[in-house]
Amino acid sequence: MSEPWDVESDDAIHRGPPVTVDRYGPGKRVNHWITACSLILLLLSGMALFHPSLFFLTGLFGGGQNTRMLHPWIGVVLFVSFYIFFFQLWKANLFTKADMGWFTGIRDVIGGHEERLPEMGKYNAGQKVIFWAMALLIIALIATGILIWDQYFYDYTSIETKRFAVLIHAVSAVLIICVFIVHVYAAIWTRGTIRAMTRGSVTGGWAWRHHRKWLRELAGRGRIDPAE
Ligand code: HEM
Repeated sequence: MSEPWDVESDDAIHRGPPVTVDRYGPGKRVNHWITACSLILLLLSGMALFHPSLFFLTGLFGGGQNTRMLHPWIGVVLFVSFYIFFFQLWKANLFTKADMGWFTGIRDVIGGHEERLPEMGKYNAGQKVIFWAMALLIIALIATGILIWDQYFYDYTSIETKRFAVLIHAVSAVLIICVFIVHVYAAIWTRGTIRAMTRGSVTGGWAWRHHRKWLRELAGRGRIDPAE
């Protein structure tokens, strides 16, 4: 039987009690937290460079010169780590017909009545939007970041191109901060989610409530208590 796109190699049910469901292996979790830390460092160093009133933040990075030197390199770390993660998850984040039901039933999502919606696979439509928004914004940030990385690429672009790149870079940064806030808020608001990225597993109840189609796919494929 071919695997559905949102059943990944690490995913499995453990009978318990309590029943738990593996969602992310250690490699994916380390990858995720490197990405998260690098984005937070980029936000702090980027804000320090963005406006004089935030210049004091350069103190965290050893002064203005060091902040200017480090910021683009941390950007490279974010780009590489996010895209390693991206290539493991993109298929599970493709949109399906059920996602339309999630969008139209957004009131039930907020009101805690997910049982009225179509059953969700490993990710719901909101998570998918965030995933693709992050992917696009990180491309925009790295591309425009390279255009304004004067230490190495000054001679390759005109002043006009650099001005335009700075604008797109700043707009993309503001947007990714918004996406980041929604991502973290959703992870905290949906109780029991954080442990997916800390311990790697969720409870059976969480999977049944929020991602029932995924849970059924795992059970239907006998992904239960695999040999350690
Ligand atoms: C302190 C900050 C963060 C926290 C607390 C956090 C928390 C989480 C949690 C709990 C999950 C698992 C959700 C689930 O499986 O249902 C997750 C997934 C994920 N996180 Fe984060 N995260 C943070 C920062 C970031 C950043 C900065 C990025 C990227 C720029 C990111 C990208 C992702 C992606 C791509 C997923 C997989 C979800 C999907 O593919 O749709 N996270 N995060």
